[in-house]
Amino acid sequence: MKKYIVLFSLLTVFTACQYELVEVEKIIPPDPTVELSFANDILPILTDHNCISCHGIGAQAPDLTATNAYQSLLGGYVMANNPEGSLFYTYLNPDATTHSWEVLSANQALTIYTWINQGAKNN
Ligand code: HEC
Repeated sequence: MKKYIVLFSLLTVFTACQYELVEVEKIIPPDPTVELSFANDILPILTDHNCISCHGIGAQAPDLTATNAYQSLLGGYVMANNPEGSLFYTYLNPDATTHSWEVLSANQALTIYTWINQGAKNN
């Protein structure tokens, strides 16, 4: 019953005012039996956020250009099998406030977490 009262109140609020509803991201955990790929799953995340606009060659580290990204990430930002100890995951997590620029979406963070957990392979 309480649930319906809350729901009704929320509906009243949302219909009464012209709120712009922010779509809540649906979290889709990656299938643990499928091995994620750096080229197909991780690089597109970097492209999606245009990370190289700031993290290009000779600019702010790490260098995230497609040809150098793997090497620079493994050179201090990714500890294979340890996502919690990897800046690439913790620094840009949606809940983190460390990176002053982009943060990842929840699904992208989960994808990076899983890829690191699977050994952070250059596949
Ligand atoms: C608008 C510029 C900009 C964009 C876009 C950007 N970054 Fe950054 N990034 C920075 C700056 C500046 C720093 C230095 C610390 C800070 O200000 O957060 C930084 C720091 C970092 C660090 C930590 C570096 C260190 O040595 O401690 C990582 C990892 C990182 N960024 C990854 C990314 C990734 C991955 C993306 C894309 C999803 C991205 N950044 C997009 C500007 C940017």
